[in-house]
Amino acid sequence: MLKFPKNFLWGAATSAPQSEGHATSNGKTPTTWDKWYELDPTKFTKNQGPENTSNMYDMYREDAKLMPQVGMNSFRTSISWARLLPDGQTVNPEAVAFYRSYFEELHKNKVKPIINLFHFDMPWWLMEKGGWEARESVEAFAFYAKTAFELFGDLVEMWTTFNEPIVHVECGYLYGYHYPAIHDFKKAIQVGYNTIMAHTMAVKNFREMKAKGQIGIILNVSPCYSRGETEGDKLAAKQADLLNTKSFLDPAVLGQFPKELVNLLKENELLPTTQQGDKEAVSTNTVDFIGLNYYQPRRVQEPVQKLVGKATDPSDFYAPYVWPDRKMNVYRGWEIYPEALYDVAMMMKNDYDNMPWFVSENGMGVAEEERFLDDETGMIQDDYRIEFMKEHLEQLHKGIEAGSQCFGYQTWTFVDCWSWLNGYTNRYGFYRVELDNNYKRTMKKSGLWFKELSDNNGF
Ligand code: NOJ
Repeated sequence: MLKFPKNFLWGAATSAPQSEGHATSNGKTPTTWDKWYELDPTKFTKNQGPENTSNMYDMYREDAKLMPQVGMNSFRTSISWARLLPDGQTVNPEAVAFYRSYFEELHKNKVKPIINLFHFDMPWWLMEKGGWEARESVEAFAFYAKTAFELFGDLVEMWTTFNEPIVHVECGYLYGYHYPAIHDFKKAIQVGYNTIMAHTMAVKNFREMKAKGQIGIILNVSPCYSRGETEGDKLAAKQADLLNTKSFLDPAVLGQFPKELVNLLKENELLPTTQQGDKEAVSTNTVDFIGLNYYQPRRVQEPVQKLVGKATDPSDFYAPYVWPDRKMNVYRGWEIYPEALYDVAMMMKNDYDNMPWFVSENGMGVAEEERFLDDETGMIQDDYRIEFMKEHLEQLHKGIEAGSQCFGYQTWTFVDCWSWLNGYTNRYGFYRVELDNNYKRTMKKSGLWFKELSDNNGF
């Protein structure tokens, strides 16, 4: 049996915008997602928008009870900035009551909350002022973070500032998948930089307040593997890694921006606008832990693209390469490569001072999952998901044995949830949700397996 360290966190993650519902009510003002949907619902699969979530706003009490039934001793979600501070300044009392009660319910059910502050959901009032392009957002975010620490600090021991911040940089400013859907590398760099500063200032507030608990950030790592051993291939992988992983991991953990990235940007006249004192703030406000989301590797080949001009597709930066012998999630079209999780564990050990970290997302999205519904038990027989978790946990265990300080494993996700432009195309949950049947939740077979895993602290 593969046993995991004592007090290992077993759990699942979601986000406020993907799970709460009540997107434009109960005092909340719109985010970019709500506005985008209002402007053009046809962009969204089956016209399902931010109101079509799993409705945790109304169901969190029942949901908190469902968590231990699938072995969850921890749960990550986010606070909605636009719900807590509808105009950026004034606290919404209904939001305070909601989140306090929500987090209390988690505690009652022995589920540790891990609370994130930003999950792709820029408030519209701030977007109108330039969103992450504007330095004003840094101060606004630091204020929001401080407010959250003050209001919920007695209920939350583990905070994270951002989830996958490279996503709003890439998807919003390079590839056109998220609002404002523009293609501008220079702006993307500024957005990335301001995000790092917003993160830094939130950590600074946390430290200055002497808030209890710990603070970290959640990053998506897609380890970048080169096609072969040619210099061009290797350079392509290195460059992809710099932009995708090190850009946020280095400042957050090591307190500095990767020199090679700075040089690359300098050569291309893409350095962002900075402020005096930024460098020092970054170096003195590193995190306590890291959350890493891992789904699939990134395989790249030469030629390395020039970092200038108009990017319209990820391949403009990372010439993708299809690995011939790859194993696939045939229900989603993503490569399955669990070995990368071992590599990630080793990267944390060797390149990042062996900082404590946890798997903050891993999981398997499946299209048309109802085809695996078993009429007798009423359960989705998601053996593929169990297999996926096993393979990844084996590699993670190997990394822990080798000395990496991983303290938990959370899957995406608890109850099937709305997923941005894709709606419910790919489902990931331990519980199936039926939107047209009062949001009924039904456990899948993977939920049973996860419970056993958590009870045994291994498999
Ligand atoms: C990454 C993100 O954090 C989340 O919002 C998304 O839905 C899942 N992974 C699944 O793709």
